[in-house]
Amino acid sequence: MTYVVIDACIRCKYTDCVEVCPVDCFYEGENFLVIHPDECIDCGVCEPECPVDAIKPDTEDPDGKWTELNAKYAATWPNITVRKDPPPDADDFVDVPDKLEKYFSEKPGTGD
Ligand code: SF4
Ligand code: F3S
Repeated sequence: MTYVVIDACIRCKYTDCVEVCPVDCFYEGENFLVIHPDECIDCGVCEPECPVDAIKPDTEDPDGKWTELNAKYAATWPNITVRKDPPPDADDFVDVPDKLEKYFSEKPGTGD
């Protein structure tokens, strides 16, 4: 089992989650973070840290869509362990629907 980041994170990317992970298993894209499913120890401490409720246990991902996406990008994006400022317009994207289809970027972030 693992926790996964879902589309609510896209363009919000508050990064409060990365500070609490005991195994540093978050990876940074240009406008999204992912969790490496093979590194996550399922401790659950990151879940309540996200202000937009973008972290879920994979038990809430029955078809594996988010687990697959997290695994795919965790393999290539850089590791992030320290909180950084969110995008300046992050608050404008909190309740925006269809963020995966409209805004998801495959580009890597800068990591730390
Ligand atoms: Fe890290 Fe624990 Fe969150 Fe997994 S559940 S990403 S180990 S903080
Ligand atoms: Fe994204 Fe929430 Fe972390 S918005 S970067 S999952 S705190």
